[in-house]
Amino acid sequence: MLKIKEEIEKLRRLIHHYDYLYYVEGAPEISDMEYDELYRRLSILEENNPEFDDPNSPTQRVGGEPLKEFKTLAHRVPMLSLENTYSNEEVKEWEKRIKKNISSTIAYIVEEKIDGVGISLTYENGRLISGISRGNGFQGDDVTRNVKTQKVIPLILNTDTPPSLVEIRGEMFIKKSELKRINKERDKAGLNIFANPRNTCSGTLKLLDPGEVAKRKLSAFFYSIGIWEGSNKPDTQGELLEILRIWGVPVNGNFKKCKDINEVFETYVILSDVRQSRDYDMDGAVIKVNSFNAQDSLGATSKSPRWAIAFKFKSIKGVTVIRDVECGVGRTGIITPVAKLEPLKISGVTITSATLHNFDQVDRLGIGIGDKIEMERGGDVIPKILGVVKKNKTSNRINPPIECPSCKGAVRKDPDGVYYRCVNLSCPAQLIQKLLHYSSLDAMNIEGLGENIARQLIDEGLVAGLPDLYKLKEEDLLRLELFARKKAKNLLEAIEFSKTCELTNFIYGLGIRHVGYHIAGVLAEKFKNIDVLAKADCEELKSINEIGSIVAQSIVDFFASPGNSDTVLELLEAGVRPSGSEKYGDGS
Ligand code: IVH
Repeated sequence: MLKIKEEIEKLRRLIHHYDYLYYVEGAPEISDMEYDELYRRLSILEENNPEFDDPNSPTQRVGGEPLKEFKTLAHRVPMLSLENTYSNEEVKEWEKRIKKNISSTIAYIVEEKIDGVGISLTYENGRLISGISRGNGFQGDDVTRNVKTQKVIPLILNTDTPPSLVEIRGEMFIKKSELKRINKERDKAGLNIFANPRNTCSGTLKLLDPGEVAKRKLSAFFYSIGIWEGSNKPDTQGELLEILRIWGVPVNGNFKKCKDINEVFETYVILSDVRQSRDYDMDGAVIKVNSFNAQDSLGATSKSPRWAIAFKFKSIKGVTVIRDVECGVGRTGIITPVAKLEPLKISGVTITSATLHNFDQVDRLGIGIGDKIEMERGGDVIPKILGVVKKNKTSNRINPPIECPSCKGAVRKDPDGVYYRCVNLSCPAQLIQKLLHYSSLDAMNIEGLGENIARQLIDEGLVAGLPDLYKLKEEDLLRLELFARKKAKNLLEAIEFSKTCELTNFIYGLGIRHVGYHIAGVLAEKFKNIDVLAKADCEELKSINEIGSIVAQSIVDFFASPGNSDTVLELLEAGVRPSGSEKYGDGS
């Protein structure tokens, strides 16, 4: 029996270690297969020997029922915030105040200020017992189960001599690349897109179902201590960061020890230069007095410590002029105004246009052509128009179009929404977007059918609807600009190959409103056949989990429109055989 206990403990230690290497250091030492094998072995041993259960085993990161609500817990030591400044002068004044109090030479640690969510982790004898969000600084939510799902958070500290009680504080955040990944999936599933990493991270920590939290990858950096009992605390901030790193706690390595305030300023400049290249939002530098003794004698006000200051970056803004507004037409006819700008360089990137989203937004901003406007660019977020700086006396109002900018057909405003739409179903601009959607990777995956080609096919009268793709011949394509024989052959092959798609891809490719990739999969699974789906009524659709009345109505409306049902029929007649479709049978 002892042997089994030992093996379980050894496996847990190993897996914690490999999690650290993979998620914190980003330098795995074993293959995924070897890792999975260790994990599987541990799961089996734990299942057969429940007497050795341990809530801090790496197998216990996810599990259990969703919570009803979070418990509120008080922080034993309040989580203060930092005094903010944007200017060298104020930093110098801050230094003067410190020097009045401390006579010895003062060294500083300058760290990146991460724009995330404050979090506190408590470890008892090296074992994680709780995770609490910063909340209002005095009390926060008990998010222990959520933080445990994140492999970047150590469940056990990697030391044989942990303090009996230690509270480690830092910042959880979501990387920009992870937000992109999540948004891509949400878009595919027809869900709304998350606007920024900070809110996504705090929203994720507030999810009541840890299983959902586990599906997103949060990151973390820790940098301070609340309580420390039962052993000697380090003497300096620099040593603290070093010890945390050794314990396996994620620490941001981009900190710098500075011997005087001039070095602090140099470091600040370097950080503001690298800011854009980071995969996370950094909104400034935090300057800290390095010595904990000095920190203690400086103390804190009721809001913030006197030994640290946040030296924030000025937000990246610029001023330019709106030259013109052009309207784009989307797949469903939505008309989007896009501002064409006097080129503006913000943090190394030249911006020449910015979406205005819709005409309600144009009214809210009160902008017209010729106006001087203020723009903001943060991280890789789309440039945003903040507002008018100076109205041009002769500026032209930006009005919703009375006709479609592409086909000159009628335009209507959604009765219950903000969008204006072109209502002409055969509008060429809509058709381009429909073709692009139909050919996209998650739909029919027709490689080589880009915007330029789609436009030419329509302009040349070769394609007036999706089924026409399957009637294209080599000589048709050779008539188009920049089409050599090889390229034509490749495109025709891709079109031919798309006939053997999966039903999910086909349903998605039709571009039914509110039917993203995920719902397309649900429909394919349930109906197995496009004809059966086309005949389904609202009640039948609504009986499916995940489909509500809006989506159901949209599907019914789509197939009720003769244009759409003819398109589907013609596609099938042209030889499209979605697998998973019983009637047409191939490969299902
Ligand atoms: S030290 C007494 N260091 O910024 C507070 N804070 O406005 C000591 N933050 O609440 C905090 N990066 O959530 C510190 N390297 C860093 C930080 C950092 C981000 C956050 C933290 C704090 C807020 C202050």
